[in-house]
Amino acid sequence: MKNILVTGGSGFIGANFIHYVLGETDFSGRIINVDVLTYAGNPENLQSIEKDFPERYIFENADICDLEKLRLIAEKYDVDTICHFAAESHVDRSIVSPGAFIQTNVIGTFNLLEIARERQDGLKLFHHVSTDEVFGSLGDEGFFTETTSYKPNSPYSASKASSDHLVRAYYKTYGIPVTISNCSNNYGPFQFPEKLIPLMVLNAQARKPLPVYGDGSNVRDWLYVRDHCVAIWAIMNRGRHGETYNVGGDNEMKNLEVVREICRCLDEILPADGGAPREELITFVKDRPGHDWRYAIDFSKINQELGWRPAESFTTGIRKTIEWYLENDQWVSRVKSGEYQQWMKEQYGEQ
Ligand code: NAD
Ligand code: TYD
Repeated sequence: MKNILVTGGSGFIGANFIHYVLGETDFSGRIINVDVLTYAGNPENLQSIEKDFPERYIFENADICDLEKLRLIAEKYDVDTICHFAAESHVDRSIVSPGAFIQTNVIGTFNLLEIARERQDGLKLFHHVSTDEVFGSLGDEGFFTETTSYKPNSPYSASKASSDHLVRAYYKTYGIPVTISNCSNNYGPFQFPEKLIPLMVLNAQARKPLPVYGDGSNVRDWLYVRDHCVAIWAIMNRGRHGETYNVGGDNEMKNLEVVREICRCLDEILPADGGAPREELITFVKDRPGHDWRYAIDFSKINQELGWRPAESFTTGIRKTIEWYLENDQWVSRVKSGEYQQWMKEQYGEQ
């Protein structure tokens, strides 16, 4: 791998991945980040990378729905590997406006696969970053494995399932070298504060209500984002083509437990005036329509084949995450105020 086209590198996981690959591995090639900078894409996440790796990090402001532009970028940088993160990623938004999810997650992935097909001769790998939500919802028992049948329930998970099927079809039909990872819920630095963990951290810090859907008994498996990046890099380097790998945190928790743990941790770091526990801020709100009950991952395949397992426990990972959000209050206020959209226009011009 010499020239890796990373899509969605300005978002949460993509930015962490670029920091990991350029900052912590022995990769010596270039990363070309293709990102259209939606509300969730923030070039500030990669400001230190732009400074530290001016020759090896390239940003291209482009929409993956624009096939012609993708073709020009792939030619210009002689792209030999694609790692595909770009997506509309928030379930609640997909319930309100599913259209963008179909465009980016389905059509965008199709376009990238077409680029891979056109460049098949020199292509080393197309890695597709996906979610465990494609498998639908579990009851109280059991785990998703790589052979669990697909049963997506939200427009988001249905669009990701469609993209997984296209990737698999391009392997079977055209022999494109592909790998797919299906990962559980991530948390950590740079996550946009619409997702459960950063939303609760910031609301609890500001002593605002903590909106828990339903009775808070839904279960998610949580993985610290750096562990996900390590897993993706292991698959890209040593995974078998045509295979899918489940990636999980070995860390199932009810939403209510997650929120309580955040409150406890914040109370310890930043004790409240008069000692009022932040748990008092928890507010039960109307449930999400079609809310999946439980996700849990069996990651024994990646563990046995590639020796991967999560390094971080929830206790250590959530503390690091909370500390990151407290230390990066300027990032938070810019993201929340939309100031970074202005900053972005100044850097990259009107889109
Ligand atoms: P995110 O919403 O934080 O970032 C998505 C990025 O994609 C943003 O930078 C955005 O600007 C970019 N983007 C969106 N539409 C685009 C388009 N049409 N063209 C170019 N760029 C576009 O998402 P994330 O949480 O970092 O997720 C990254 C990937 O990982 C997604 O494919 C998601 O399905 C998958 N995933 C996420 C999680 C999770 O917990 N966040 C878990 C498993 C898998
Ligand atoms: P989320 O971070 O949106 O991830 P996903 O829906 O992809 O799992 O939500 C995680 C869980 O937290 C999910 O069960 C919904 C719940 N949730 C709340 O209870 N309150 C909230 O404000 C949000 C955003 C999520």
